[in-house]
Amino acid sequence: MANFPHAGQQPLVELSRAFPLTDLSATTAGADPARTYEALRAQWGPVAPVQMEPGVPAWLVLGYREFGTVARDEKLYSRDTTNWRLHREGLLPEGAAIWAYTPPVEKKPWSSFHHDGETRARLRRPLDDALDALPDAAVKERTNEVCGLLLDRLDGEEGTVDLVREYAAVVGFGAMASLFGFDSDTAEQMRQDSAVIMQEYGARTADARKRMGQALMGHVASRQAHAAVDLTSEFVRHPDFHNGREVADSMTVPLIAAAEFLTAWVALTLRLVLTDERLSARWEGGRIDLDQALDEVLWRDTPVPNSCLPRFATKDTVLGGALIREGDAVVLAMAGANRDPEFFAGELEVGNKSHLAWGTGPHACPAQRHARLITRTAVQRIRQELTLTLDVPVDEIQWASTPWVRHPQTLPARYRREATRGTEL
Ligand code: HEM
Repeated sequence: MANFPHAGQQPLVELSRAFPLTDLSATTAGADPARTYEALRAQWGPVAPVQMEPGVPAWLVLGYREFGTVARDEKLYSRDTTNWRLHREGLLPEGAAIWAYTPPVEKKPWSSFHHDGETRARLRRPLDDALDALPDAAVKERTNEVCGLLLDRLDGEEGTVDLVREYAAVVGFGAMASLFGFDSDTAEQMRQDSAVIMQEYGARTADARKRMGQALMGHVASRQAHAAVDLTSEFVRHPDFHNGREVADSMTVPLIAAAEFLTAWVALTLRLVLTDERLSARWEGGRIDLDQALDEVLWRDTPVPNSCLPRFATKDTVLGGALIREGDAVVLAMAGANRDPEFFAGELEVGNKSHLAWGTGPHACPAQRHARLITRTAVQRIRQELTLTLDVPVDEIQWASTPWVRHPQTLPARYRREATRGTEL
């Protein structure tokens, strides 16, 4: 570590004064995130100081080994925002977007995402149990229903479509909301509200939060009164949830994850198969296994490049040569660790699943099977029904500006309907 400035173990707050810190969104919205990660690694080593937004510094964990250390040690790297010094001491800038993930203590959500240890385990069990019990057929059926509705909305035999706004951004949330038992109108309102909550901070966010909270609590109450065959009813009857608020809070994370993360995975996979000549030729020739394309995205264009909610150090420690002080924010870089040259050099081996796109440790994504089924079904269905040609040069694609998720802002395409392409994937 001798070459790195923090070899002298300067605290984050001093580094943030002494150096212009890289914006986290350069790793998501920039044209070449790989280069940004490389530059950070070259300058700082496996743990780099960055700013999540102006005035909000954090450590970014780019090393594969260090990633595992942080993700698995919830005692030292807590998910509880009350351990964040900036938050605790009232130093978070007024109006900072990160407030959306780190609400005041009294409003801290009762979901596994925001807790550690036994409380995390208790709140996580219903999620795991309900998702494990969900049959593949139900996930595919609901996804296909939403795909059908979206494809029916397109006019005529040929035309133009924005594959992000009119498809990728709607399909995942629609499928997940339907699995939770929401009707399609409520689901669409909640999808719009969740987009506002994740992307803005201000009066509109407060309204969106309130409306979404009411929709969730109303739905939970209706399932408490009359159970149905859906995920909400599974949650309601689970003995580990103590009340309706815990059920509603624990529904928010999977719904928002479905909205944000599936938008990214569907959009990135469509972009890849439409722009990568090597892949599209194999696709047309019927030789591509769609799962290979999905895995290539998880490795190379990781949909969730950085963990949305940081961890917060509960005591001073040294990680990858960096001095982490009690109360510092620590962000896991899934996409950075997937490119750690010490572990992964050269071409990917087919079938290698040791990437970190799902995280690892006690907070790893509980919906990996479901996310793959939804994404695979959505990509397969649109490719079967439409012949698509991208309407924008690949190097002019604009990226959504968020520090956590990477996906094209828009993906304009021309389409022609097919009777049914029938390519088995
Ligand atoms: C059906 C769609 C999805 C659902 C319902 C879902 C649900 C969740 C939930 C509830 C968590 C938090 C678990 C906890 O903290 O206990 C989580 C974490 C996570 N999910 Fe997913 N997810 C979905 C799709 C995806 C996709 C498409 C990706 C990216 C390929 C992804 C990547 C992650 C990652 C990286 C974490 C861990 C974050 C961390 O440790 O900081 N998820 N997911």
